[in-house]
Amino acid sequence: MPFTANRQFKKSPRMFVAARDMHYTTADGRQVMDGTAGLWCVNAGHARPKIVEAIARQAAELDYAPAFQMGHPKAFELANRIVDIAPEGLDHVLFTNSGSESVETALKVALAYHRAKGEGSRFRLIGRERGYHGVNFGGISVGGIVPNRKMFGTLLTGVDHLPHTHDLARNAFSRGEPQHGVELADELERIVALHDASTIAAVIVEPVAGSTGVLIPPPGYLQRLREITRKHGILLIFDEVITGYGRLGTPFAADYFGVTPDIMVTAKGLTNGVIPMGAVLVSSEIHDAFMTGPEHLIEFFHGYTYSGNPIASAAGVATLETYKDEGLLTRGAELARTWEDALHSLKGEPHVIDIRNIGLVGAIELEPIAGAPTKRAFSAFLKAYEAGYLIRTTGDIIALSPPLIVTESQIGELIDAVRTALRSVE
Ligand SMILES: Cc1ncc(COP(=O)(O)O)c(C=O)c1O
Repeated sequence: MPFTANRQFKKSPRMFVAARDMHYTTADGRQVMDGTAGLWCVNAGHARPKIVEAIARQAAELDYAPAFQMGHPKAFELANRIVDIAPEGLDHVLFTNSGSESVETALKVALAYHRAKGEGSRFRLIGRERGYHGVNFGGISVGGIVPNRKMFGTLLTGVDHLPHTHDLARNAFSRGEPQHGVELADELERIVALHDASTIAAVIVEPVAGSTGVLIPPPGYLQRLREITRKHGILLIFDEVITGYGRLGTPFAADYFGVTPDIMVTAKGLTNGVIPMGAVLVSSEIHDAFMTGPEHLIEFFHGYTYSGNPIASAAGVATLETYKDEGLLTRGAELARTWEDALHSLKGEPHVIDIRNIGLVGAIELEPIAGAPTKRAFSAFLKAYEAGYLIRTTGDIIALSPPLIVTESQIGELIDAVRTALRSVE
């Protein structure tokens, strides 16, 4: 099983057999509230009729069309709809089947773009400590999670990392963006000075690091990365696999922070988690750099059998329609204050050393048990599950990200369930 304590699970399986709106049904017939939108992907809640119907209709009408040298209307329709809600300037789309593939695609676009422009010396990729960019070789190379990297050899060469922005000593219990740490963006200047700008292709960061426990940048940090990358001709890639499609109360984190990258990586919420799909957005400038040479030749040697798969595309179109019909891409902003207050009411509960929030994402960091890191948070996860609430843990951090349809009273219920779990673990 992926990223699972296999032996623990098989001794005591946790099985879901159905889901609707905010709740799962377990194999033993219990209702479990989804406090994590599945894996940060079910933004519109479960089994939404428009999406279910679109998938069934598309499967009956056109189940598959070759992705290479052939097209079908749904993929183009979805691409246009993504561009409609994306930050201005990101107006071309490459489809993939996951966040990990979106990351690989973005990194390859960045390298190939510089080469197409006659700057093939730009081969370095800069990621960030504690960054998560999926599990393929490019993603774990630019990523900064040690257990995801250390078993897998040399990874990509020519990669360097920015420091992460998590600063408990100065920023614990910040509400929203933390005050301290904007100067950490200047580390990019140091890295550029070390390697020389002429060797660096791209910088990739999650605007808010999700998987390592909701690490929120201080005000001005992303702006500064944007300024430095622009100054040195380096592409800026935002990995919005978690932050995209409404999670922060804006369509994308780029909107929230007012910073537009050159390439944006998305997946998860694109299809509400229902069908695997990702989308990488690039600027016209990047797109156009490839559109040279004889017209019978392939311009970019990359793609997947299932890129823009018809059923996934139909699911994507129906998902974006559902978000639009229900105002879900901005609903997080309406709920943000309630969410923030509820989360921060956990201050003072046992083991809590930090609480963080932005949009409809939150994290509660726990003091680890000495000699047994992750155990305390995992125990809280099991307690919450037994009580009928799905929460997520990473290390000793509880991360919460309910579907964007969550009600204020469900927020209260979820946070109370976390409170009870915290009080019951050692
Ligand atoms: C920021 C980020 N990038 C990439 C990925 C990888 O996505 P996937 O699991 O769909 O490959 C994730 C998954 O959580 C993610 O959070």
